[in-house]
Amino acid sequence: MTTQKILLTGGAGFIASHTFVALITAGYTPVIFDNLCNSNPKVLDRLERITGIAPLFIRGDIRDAAALDAAFGAHAFAAVLHFAGLKAVGESVEKPLEYYDNNVRGTLELLAAMRRANVKTLVFSSSATVYGDPATTPVHEAFPLSATNPYGRSKLMIEEILGDLFKAESDWNIARLRYFNPAGAHESGLIGEDPQGIPNNLMPYIAQVAVGRRAQLQVFGGDYPTPDGTGVRDFIHVMDLAEGHVAALKYFDGATGLVTVNLGTGKGVSVLQMIAAFEEACGKKIAYQIGARRPGDIAECWADPALAQKLFGWSASRTLSDMTRDGWRWQSMNPTGFLD
Ligand code: NAD
Ligand code: UD1
Repeated sequence: MTTQKILLTGGAGFIASHTFVALITAGYTPVIFDNLCNSNPKVLDRLERITGIAPLFIRGDIRDAAALDAAFGAHAFAAVLHFAGLKAVGESVEKPLEYYDNNVRGTLELLAAMRRANVKTLVFSSSATVYGDPATTPVHEAFPLSATNPYGRSKLMIEEILGDLFKAESDWNIARLRYFNPAGAHESGLIGEDPQGIPNNLMPYIAQVAVGRRAQLQVFGGDYPTPDGTGVRDFIHVMDLAEGHVAALKYFDGATGLVTVNLGTGKGVSVLQMIAAFEEACGKKIAYQIGARRPGDIAECWADPALAQKLFGWSASRTLSDMTRDGWRWQSMNPTGFLD
């Protein structure tokens, strides 16, 4: 059993809060560093209810060098899991400078603080968005990379910065994890995804229709070259994703270097299949209408997850019905998210 301290930037957010639980289960001591720009401090109480441990929490911004130095001074971190970032594609088109400042400059400040503190193991939250519109599926890590919006470009830039850093300073251990589509929630129903305003992503939108917060789902396009005409994605249970981070950390117990790894299930699920699975979980019909395609969307995308299995000994174990059941439990127990 390890008691290593791990810094979680963006630790109060959706994916990192679930990773907090997985880290506690694996015997680590996570410390949350978050400016709460897209999360609610209530998550801290919920994490205590789930784990029995009051989270160590630092309210701070990753662009604040002094706040980072204070955090590294207060705790002897073995590694950093870097989740903090802005993630709304549409907003990134409206506010590119804010996105590059927060995501890219924030990461540079974090890396500089890590170097000052001599903490050189980093797990970075990248995204399958860096594959752009992949020519074929499943998507392999060696596929060409591209970006069509500032959010995706910020992820790509950070990946490249990490590559350059490792080339220059080979004593770093870096995992660039490319997440596919996180879905579901912790099985307790106490934490989950709580988007501000109108959800951009499919799963929280469906959940809000099911709970009566929204009248109907707009299905973005029914004429894609996919089996039922709707978009196909690789939805991965957020607890599987969380456990993928633990597996990446453990990998660096016995290995060094820079790795780039997909975290997905390897299975594609269409929008209509997701609606049907959610209806099954919640026992209600989800009202939907098939409309125009969303600009920038791709037809289909799912992971080749073999490298994660090979390097980390990790693969997703939860099913689509686990995702919809747990997602519905979270939404029905907390109809207005952390406001409840
Ligand atoms: P989230 O918004 O729920 O969590 C991000 C957290 O970072 C929030 O709590 C926010 O308050 C915090 N944060 C943002 N900027 C900060 C700053 N400058 N300083 C300190 N804290 C800051 O998002 P999430 O869905 O949990 O995503 C986590 C990471 O995973 C992000 O980097 C995101 O780009 C990436 N990612 C998410 C998805 C997805 O579908 N959710 C997919 C691929 C990659
Ligand atoms: C979106 C982002 C991507 C990001 C990813 C992870 C865009 C263009 N892309 O991708 O950069 O990495 O989220 O969070 O925003 N859908 C509907 N109706 C809805 C919402 C979605 O039909 O109200 C469809 C989409 O057209 C798509 C599928 O559901 O076919 C999944 O959409 P979404 O959850 O937004 O994820 P991505 O499109 O994969």
